[in-house]
Amino acid sequence: MGAVCTTLIAGVEAVRKGIAKPIGSLTQMGTIRLGKRTEGKTPLIREFVPIAKLDDIVFTGWDIFGGNLYDAAKTAAVLDKELLEKIRPYLESIEPMPAAFDQNYVKRLTGTHIKSGKNKRDLAEQIRKDIQAFKKTVDRVVVIWTGSTEIFLQQTAVHQSLAAFEKGMDDDDPGIAPSQLYAWAALTEGIAFINGAPNLTVDFPAMNELSRKMNAPIAGRDFKTGQTLIKSVLAPAFKTRMLGVSGWFSTNILGNRDGEVLDEPQSFKTKEESKLGLLEMILQPDLYPDLYNDIYHKIRINYYPPRADNKESWDNIDIFGWLGYPMQLKVNFLCRDSILAAPLALDLCLFMDLASRTPSLKGLGIQEWLSFYFKAPDSAPGVYPENDLFIQSMKMKNTLRHIMGEDLITHLGLDYYGG
Ligand SMILES: NC(=O)c1ccc[n+]([C@@H]2O[C@H](COP(=O)([O-])OP(=O)(O)OC[C@H]3O[C@@H](n4cnc5c(N)ncnc54)[C@H](O)[C@@H]3O)[C@@H](O)[C@H]2O)c1
Repeated sequence: MGAVCTTLIAGVEAVRKGIAKPIGSLTQMGTIRLGKRTEGKTPLIREFVPIAKLDDIVFTGWDIFGGNLYDAAKTAAVLDKELLEKIRPYLESIEPMPAAFDQNYVKRLTGTHIKSGKNKRDLAEQIRKDIQAFKKTVDRVVVIWTGSTEIFLQQTAVHQSLAAFEKGMDDDDPGIAPSQLYAWAALTEGIAFINGAPNLTVDFPAMNELSRKMNAPIAGRDFKTGQTLIKSVLAPAFKTRMLGVSGWFSTNILGNRDGEVLDEPQSFKTKEESKLGLLEMILQPDLYPDLYNDIYHKIRINYYPPRADNKESWDNIDIFGWLGYPMQLKVNFLCRDSILAAPLALDLCLFMDLASRTPSLKGLGIQEWLSFYFKAPDSAPGVYPENDLFIQSMKMKNTLRHIMGEDLITHLGLDYYGG
């Protein structure tokens, strides 16, 4: 219940009250073309697929700090006081439940509102009980991690099967971070789980096994918001035109709590790994060695409190064209981190709930069609993830057509010309 989550919840309430518009949310504002371009059928996505209505959404959550959501949103300092005052009673009515937390995994934070238990399994079982109690009050549940970035973890033996993972929780295995306990609890309850952070949380074989066993969908890692969003637009543009890239230097200043957590080298490493993979996946240097074999790709995030949630990023991109002649492109993005992330969190909750109700999708485990929203999308073993934003968008829209039994759109279009 930090910056992203309070911005999501306050935003949904503001939209419900007609105070603001859900800008940035595809489920709320996007349309989808059906049939031929000549047919003029483009319904709103929210009217085309049976996703939950904003009025029907009920929120709850956990945090390592107590207090109500009005106070949490004030601390996050994303939304202005005037807006928060208009929805104050609603925000004051939501208080986080005590969290499963271990400072070894988020070194910069000291929790004051946390569960105690005899081992990791005990903490995970307590989360399950919280979910079971909430489940009794609503029809369906989705769980999303918008918690802090944890330290960098790599898969070990404990992540390779569900049996090993469950034994690992009994033995307090150090490879099991708190975010994994939430994921295990949700999936064990048959509930979809989304990971908005770059942590190793669901993308390993044990969770994949549990997800398939329980028909509880999982998807990706780390919201694709600011700098990486732009990267996943520019890199495909270079590749489509066969322009080479020799260097890509990305730097950021950020002053919110996430920035403070990322100032710690082990949490930064988790973020760095999640951001680094994308360029290589898009540019495919193995297929285009002359263009992309020698890219120098560097990412920096600097904690700079005066900017709070208003992140500024700079990208310097060295590219080369015809006969190898060099050129440069500079991008300076003055964004707002949580303003970009909140609509993605909303869309993911609504679409993952839809996936949980779709027979052809719910048993698949990973929902690759939602890769559109992630910096590090998850994919089946042996299949490389798709990172190009526009391919991701086409894939997602075709999946929505598939869900509703509509014809898929191939973009071939020969029949318009008598072909
Ligand atoms: N805002 C963006 O644009 C963006 C984009 C991609 C990813 N993310 C990721 O989303 C996550 C949230 O970002 P934020 O800006 O809201 O950060 P934040 O620091 O404002 O919020 C994180 C919250 O998680 C809580 N927390 C930490 N460990 C917990 C635990 N074990 N259980 C329950 N709560 C716990 C913290 O107390 C804090 O309130 C981060 O991992 C961030 O990297 C954000």
